[in-house]
Amino acid sequence: MNGRLFLLAGIFAATALGADQAALDRGQKEEARSCIPCHSLRLIHSQRLSKAAWNKELDKMAGWGTVVNDRDALLEYLTANFGDDKPLPTPAMSGNGTR
Ligand code: HEC
Repeated sequence: MNGRLFLLAGIFAATALGADQAALDRGQKEEARSCIPCHSLRLIHSQRLSKAAWNKELDKMAGWGTVVNDRDALLEYLTANFGDDKPLPTPAMSGNGTR
């Protein structure tokens, strides 16, 4: 009985992990599809925001006409990769007028 429960728990854990990575992949695809018409990904990837702040950011972009199909996955992807617990990115060079 206990062994069976343990096995079940293992299956659930594995499924949850799998779903998580799949969601992150879907989130990245969603970003590539819905976020680049107006600005570069650098503007997004240079942020470090909490999940709540990313959620607000998505609301703001939606207000400007962004259509997101897979919002949950996108929010998860943004929070996992560009969360406020991540180190700040090194600033891009922009001082010499060539870009
Ligand atoms: C309809 C055009 C449009 C689309 C599509 C769009 N954005 Fe934006 N985004 C903007 C504008 C306009 C700004 C403001 C740029 C500035 O301040 O110079 C901006 C700025 C940002 C910023 C910088 C912080 C801020 O609020 O100014 C982030 C982060 C961002 N967008 C994330 C996203 C994400 C994530 C997506 C995809 C879900 C997305 N954007 C899609 C128009 C858009």
